[in-house]
Amino acid sequence: MTSADIPAAERLSSAAYYEIDLRTFQRGWPDPSPRPPERAERWHRRTEHLLRTDPGGCWVAESDGEVVGFATSLTRELMWILASYAVRPGLQDRGIGRALLEAALHHGRGCLRGMLNASADPRALRRYATAGFRLHPQLFLRGRVDRSLLPVVEHVREGTDGDRDLLDSLDRRTRGAAHGPDHEYLATELRLLVTDRQVGSGYAYVTPSGAPIVLAASSRRAATTLMWEALASTDPDEPVEIGHVSPANDWAVDLAMAARLDVWSSGFLALRGMKEPATYIPHGTLL
Ligand SMILES: CC(C)(COP(=O)(O)OP(=O)(O)OC[C@H]1O[C@@H](n2cnc3c(N)ncnc32)[C@H](O)[C@@H]1OP(=O)(O)O)[C@@H](O)C(=O)NCCC(=O)NCCS
Repeated sequence: MTSADIPAAERLSSAAYYEIDLRTFQRGWPDPSPRPPERAERWHRRTEHLLRTDPGGCWVAESDGEVVGFATSLTRELMWILASYAVRPGLQDRGIGRALLEAALHHGRGCLRGMLNASADPRALRRYATAGFRLHPQLFLRGRVDRSLLPVVEHVREGTDGDRDLLDSLDRRTRGAAHGPDHEYLATELRLLVTDRQVGSGYAYVTPSGAPIVLAASSRRAATTLMWEALASTDPDEPVEIGHVSPANDWAVDLAMAARLDVWSSGFLALRGMKEPATYIPHGTLL
């Protein structure tokens, strides 16, 4: 993949994921929609970041000069991560996906561990399971946050560049590999919260709507404190959605109950050579 392929890959991924969203739609969820322009732009920036840091992990399949599929992946320390993966609807189920995943996996051949966030597409699950990944169901926490339920939160501050070593240490402790250069990218897109005390430390990247997108902590208490602080910045009239919570993170389900959020299940965390990370909420693509 080169930078010139990014717009075509983004359109292809939007179409392929939309199709899967329509097929696996659950009653009670917001209606699926194609990716809106601001999320498409974010997809471009994130993929540029991957091409800068892991050009050998990003592949496209072409037919008659057109992109018909792609796989983007990254290695961080001894961890391989599949960021995004799709084949154009109408051309799926013909072996293109297998070839793309093999190329991306080759980039991670020196890694001991692997993780990826899987859609509910049975074709994707077959590819991952045959590549040795174990599937763990993922929970989504969703709802409006009632201000009267928010506890008083102390000892959480805004993070700075000076926290990078702490963040990388927390990544190693929770998921087995530092995010390294991803922190620089995440910090340009999101608000960073940090808590650093003897009883526990942690960090969370939080969206403008108050959803923690990545959270790593050395204790359940630090993780819970960060999640409450994030939820305090939500709009009480707008539902917030916290994704990619794997069941080992029961502290997050306890918090969802206390905040009266709904708990849903969707997609899988696929892992190879490692246990479910806890106290950790992975990023959807940078995990
Ligand atoms: C997932 C995806 C990238 C795979 O690409 P692809 O070109 O369709 O994959 P392949 O043809 O190489 O492999 C599909 C496999 O699924 C199998 N398959 C097809 N339908 C299936 C079903 N209903 N249940 C189980 N397996 C199924 C095929 O037999 C094949 O396995 P095999 O090669 O071992 O026989 C593609 O289907 C896609 O874009 N899906 C939508 C987007 C998505 O969900 N991406 C993954 C994000 S995590």
